[in-house]
Amino acid sequence: VKNIHSVVIGAQWGDEGKGKIVDTLAAEADVIVRYQGGNNAGHTIVHDHVVHKLHLLPAGVVSGKMSVIGNGVVVNPDGLVKEITEFKGKFPHDLLFISDRAHVVLFYHQALDYVKEIAKGKGKIGTTMKGIGPTYTSKASRLGLRMHEFVDSDTLEKRLREQIPKNIQLLHTQASANQIRQYLRKHHPNFLTESGLVDMNKVVAHYHTLREKLTQYVTDTGVLLQQCIDDGKKIFFEGAQATMLDLDHGTYPYVTSSSPSIGGVYTGTGVVPKISRILGVVKAYTTRVGGGPFVTELHDETGEKLREIGGEYGTTTGRPRRCGWLDAVQLRYARRVSGFSELAITKLDVLDKLGKIKICVGYEHSGQRVSNIPADVRVLEDVKPIYITVDGWRQDTTKIQNFNKLPQKAKDYVQKVEELVGVRISMVSVGKDRAQTIIR
Ligand code: GDP
Ligand code: IMO
Ligand code: MG
Repeated sequence: VKNIHSVVIGAQWGDEGKGKIVDTLAAEADVIVRYQGGNNAGHTIVHDHVVHKLHLLPAGVVSGKMSVIGNGVVVNPDGLVKEITEFKGKFPHDLLFISDRAHVVLFYHQALDYVKEIAKGKGKIGTTMKGIGPTYTSKASRLGLRMHEFVDSDTLEKRLREQIPKNIQLLHTQASANQIRQYLRKHHPNFLTESGLVDMNKVVAHYHTLREKLTQYVTDTGVLLQQCIDDGKKIFFEGAQATMLDLDHGTYPYVTSSSPSIGGVYTGTGVVPKISRILGVVKAYTTRVGGGPFVTELHDETGEKLREIGGEYGTTTGRPRRCGWLDAVQLRYARRVSGFSELAITKLDVLDKLGKIKICVGYEHSGQRVSNIPADVRVLEDVKPIYITVDGWRQDTTKIQNFNKLPQKAKDYVQKVEELVGVRISMVSVGKDRAQTIIR
């Protein structure tokens, strides 16, 4: 069995440009696989001014490659049907496969996400409100609904009729009846009776309609992927979210509920591919959306400049992203956790106009040097970044196609990052378009 498969993983807190990198490399792949997360992801792909925004569909659909949604993904059937409809006619539908073991995000998971965040008040995680945490909670508590049940008409109805009342009860332990009614009126008016109660028949009918649209794609994707491996096909695993949002290794509890880092590939697909390349995607600066510690966050005009030039607004939620400098302590940690064999640096062009650029090379806490990401987020909230400052290059890089043609100071920046993180940077992205990518 050949050592040919690749994984693309976010090295920071998400939105590093994973979609663009997977799409750029998709020409080399036969199969693209999502292994975790759900439609909390937002991956943007641009060719020739055509913009594709993907949430659940693997990036392979854009280039007509076999696309697999693995068992580790949580599938929102409403969201997925919407995306498939948007892509109708743009890719062959017999190339999309969804794992029969993937868990299903149902409307009450989204409602639970909402009420849990409200209940947390100031300490909220700032989730995407897509029901991701509650769906993985159902999965871990062995109460989840999986795709094989979803596509079986009788089982679907039986499971919905048993789960909905229990979950509505659960909702009522987290929020007032009024808040719940308001939420449902806004998001699921079609599920309610005149008096605002959930009408089970309406819910069941809704999911039956989605079942009919999704059944054709559902299969045992573990068997399928093993066949691909045995046939010598090249597989690309497309991570969503990122290492610092990993349930185990991220800035817990300000994390997502899946395993974006390398381990997720194995649990999330049911195969053990021989991986030759673990490509970490790192933005030339740092962004984070939602709550949680962010050591190098900028609260000044430079932060705003990065947000405006970089277009740092969420693909999924439209929220402004928090912006700051690159953090080598965080990246070295991510390198260990995900075992990057190489890095792609994106959005280098966003720094084109800056006179001075900082890179965080260490942390200090109570007068002591900290060289690792501490487990306790309260400590991480408290550490002070130690920066080095480098000169900007003040030149447009967006049309450059060759690493050697980059301004010397831009090359120095890339090489500095490489040196600080200890991983080779093999790709430099200087714009949104697939063509604006320098392979080194
Ligand atoms: P993902 O979630 O990691 O796939 O990243 P997103 O798509 O959410 O966010 C990255 C954003 O930056 C998207 O709008 C991309 O079109 C854009 N982008 C990606 N690479 C570059 C780049 O090198 N330069 C610029 N200016 N934009 C980029
Ligand atoms: P892509 O794949 C950036 C963040 C949310 C929140 C935390 C938990 O586009 O990089 P969740 O809804 O998952 O329970 O939210 O994780 N988050 C992301 N941030 N990019 C993403 O995906 C994200 N998916 C979730 O903002 O802080
Ligand atoms: Mg994104």
